Amino acid sequence: MTAMTTSPDWWRDAVIYQIYPRSFADADGDGIGDLPGVVSRLLHLAELGVDAIWVSPFYVSPQHDGGYDVADYRAVDPVFGTLGDADRLIEAAHAHGLRIIVDLVPNHTSWDHPWFQAALHLGPDSPERACYLFRDGHGPDGAEPPNNWQSVFGGPAWTRVTEPDGRLGAWYLHMYDTSQPDLDWSSPVVRAEFESILRFWLDRGVDGFRVDVAHGLVKAPGLPDWEADPEARTRPPMWDQDGVHEIYRAWRTVLDEYDHHPILVAEAWVEPPERLMRYLRPDEMHQAFNFEFMFTPWDAARLRSSIDRVRTASASVGSVPTWVLSNHDVVRHTTRLVMPPAASHVRGIGPNDPQPDEAHGLRRGRAATLLMLSLPGGAYLYQGEELGLPEHTTLPDETRQDPTFGRTLGQILGRDGCRVPMPWEELAPAYGFSSTSNSWLPQPPAWAHYAADIQQAVDGSTLEMYRRAIALRAAHGMGAGELTWIESPAEGLLAFRNADITVVVNTGTEAVETSDLGAVLLASGPVDVATSGHIALLPADTTVWTT
Ligand code: NOJ
Repeated sequence: MTAMTTSPDWWRDAVIYQIYPRSFADADGDGIGDLPGVVSRLLHLAELGVDAIWVSPFYVSPQHDGGYDVADYRAVDPVFGTLGDADRLIEAAHAHGLRIIVDLVPNHTSWDHPWFQAALHLGPDSPERACYLFRDGHGPDGAEPPNNWQSVFGGPAWTRVTEPDGRLGAWYLHMYDTSQPDLDWSSPVVRAEFESILRFWLDRGVDGFRVDVAHGLVKAPGLPDWEADPEARTRPPMWDQDGVHEIYRAWRTVLDEYDHHPILVAEAWVEPPERLMRYLRPDEMHQAFNFEFMFTPWDAARLRSSIDRVRTASASVGSVPTWVLSNHDVVRHTTRLVMPPAASHVRGIGPNDPQPDEAHGLRRGRAATLLMLSLPGGAYLYQGEELGLPEHTTLPDETRQDPTFGRTLGQILGRDGCRVPMPWEELAPAYGFSSTSNSWLPQPPAWAHYAADIQQAVDGSTLEMYRRAIALRAAHGMGAGELTWIESPAEGLLAFRNADITVVVNTGTEAVETSDLGAVLLASGPVDVATSGHIALLPADTTVWTT
């Protein structure tokens, strides 16, 4: 356990661990994880060596989108605990040397939020209507939606309301589920409310905010129709509008009033990297997830050019890249990297789909992890990846809870497969996730083999590989290092120096003979190390760190 640094730049090389609280640890036995459960497992994270945790939403919510539909931003949902539990979590995280980042969901509220309820029940003239994007419909009687926008979760992005007098009335915009009405960020009331929410949590001691849909808050004036046209490369009117930046500049001034150096991290699905970097100008946010790297295929040349593009773009605004391979929205990287591109991570994987090769996925996933953790910049881990968890690819349809599944009538299976509760103990009920055998999504029997307790202190286990990688990365200053490419004669090899370490990744399908790489510090898979401590052959789908 190490003490937290006091540096304002702590985030630049930090390893931050994402907790999806529904699925992390369940202290009260109802089958849904909770905040006391998180507290009970903090030692695991301190021993893993991460610098901070990011906790996905735990606020009052009807849970139509796993808590990303917030009804009260200043209270904890009873399913997760109480505000007192949140305070205890903040304190306990700090006592373990971990900073804590919470999720902020500013693009939309839940339809249960008091503003939206007032907007519905007090009618068109209520001030609360101005907090959302209500518009009259087109066509006779306004029966057609105001524009042609589609929800990210499928189906139209508009829903028509019944006014208090019983007549069909205006429509409201929801870029996600019907239960998630978009806020109107031109409203000063909305702006003031969110600055107050920031202060509420900063005053309680949190170290930052992961900003949900950071690219979506401002819509183009007039909400024009839009057809996706990959050739034209026009910016969609609902995403990445220039007006978002003044919001983040205002938030940054709020954060900068606090002397414990809290940060903002953007969830912004924005391309190209140069556009994403606008969120990271010195007076805006600190970090933005590098989704381009996440979805780069397992190919040395493409990885190198993706890494370079982001490094160059980050440097242009004085920032650093933020690497990530998995989160609660995408197929876990141990599975994704051995599935056909695009098919799996957009749609999800179900029992009727071709099934991934689990052993191959783990081998490649571990190699990708050692690549990610060797790169300069910050890195985010998603709960369970330190155990090598694969995606759950055979969830029965009737257990699925992602709103995407229902809204697309099962065409898109959704994200439940990466949200299955953690296996902590091989032989305990629900593998130690819950004190009972309850688990809100079923855990596959094979997960017994991934349980944390049986990987503990086992040489070569995925858990021990992560621990060692994080420790070496810190000891050698790799997060704050400089990357220098080593030109490699062999196709499929990616090689570079960072700090005093050489990193070599074999993304090919065959073992490759290597010239002298130096002594092996860490390898993602089995390698033959000669008595000299050196290796001469690097197997496929393997990363090594050498000196
Ligand atoms: C991004 C979150 O990560 C995802 O889980 C959520 O469904 C959408 N934003 C909508 O809030």
